[in-house]
Amino acid sequence: MDIGTRRLRLRPVLPEDSPLLHRLDTDPAVMQFVTGGAATSAATITDWVIPRSQAQFRDHGTGLWVAFDRRTARFAGWVWLRVPRHSAVPELELSYRLQRESWHRGLATEAATALITVAFTTTDTERIFASTHPDNVRSQRVMQKLGMRLATEHLRPEHFDDAFIGHDVEYEVIRADWRRNRLPAAAARPGRHRPRGPGTAEMTA
Ligand SMILES: CC(C)(COP(=O)(O)OP(=O)(O)OC[C@H]1O[C@@H](n2cnc3c(N)ncnc32)[C@H](O)[C@@H]1OP(=O)(O)O)[C@@H](O)C(=O)NCCC(=O)NCCS
Repeated sequence: MDIGTRRLRLRPVLPEDSPLLHRLDTDPAVMQFVTGGAATSAATITDWVIPRSQAQFRDHGTGLWVAFDRRTARFAGWVWLRVPRHSAVPELELSYRLQRESWHRGLATEAATALITVAFTTTDTERIFASTHPDNVRSQRVMQKLGMRLATEHLRPEHFDDAFIGHDVEYEVIRADWRRNRLPAAAARPGRHRPRGPGTAEMTA
C-alpha cells in the first residue's frame, strides 16, 4: 500500500532502500539528537532495521514508511509508525527522520499527519505517542503541529537501554482528542470537499 500526501509518496521500506537509509544516518546533524551524532552501521540497517520493519508490516500493517518527493522522486526521509515492543494497550509509536535538504518545509508534519489519519481511521489504535530529546526543538514543534501534547516530562530511565534517551520527553495524541479536533474543521465546510493539504492522505493499493 502507498500513501500519497500533497508533496510526498510514502511506501513500506524495502531491502533495496538500505543505501538511502544508511546515507541518511551518516549525517551527524541528522543524528545529533538520535545518537549524539554517531552514524548507524550499514549492517544494522540491512540486518536489523529493515527486516524488523518488514515484520512489523506483516504483523501490524505499519512500520517504517520511506518518503519520496512526488515532484522529483527524490528520497526525503522516513516516518516510522510502529507497535511498541512492550505495550498492553492499542497504541502506536511515531518517529521521523528527514534528509537535511528536506528540513524546514513542513514535510515531517505532512507525512506524520497522513499516517496518524490512516491509523486512527483504519485501526483500533487509541493513542499515538512520540518521544525526543528535550533539546530537539524542531522535533517537538512537529509533535505540537500534529496536535500532540506533552505526556510526561521525563520518562523513567529504566524503560530504556541507552542512557542518552533516558531523559526524553514524550508527546501523545489520544483518539478522542484527535476526533474532536478534527471534526469541527470538517463540519465547518458542509457539502464541500476538504482541500488537499498536509493532513489529507490518499491511499493507493
Ligand atoms: C525533526 C525533523 C523531522 C523536523 O522535520 P521538518 O520537516 O524540518 O519540520 P518542519 O519543517 O515542520 O519544522 C519544524 C519546526 O521547527 C522549527 N525550527 C526549525 N529549526 C529550528 C531551530 N533551530 N530552533 C527552533 N525551532 C526550529 C520550524 O520553524 C518549524 O516550526 P514552525 O512550523 O512552527 O515554524 C527534522 O529536523 C529531522 O529529520 N531531524 C533529524 C532527525 C530527528 O531529530 N528526528 C526526531 C527524533 S524523534
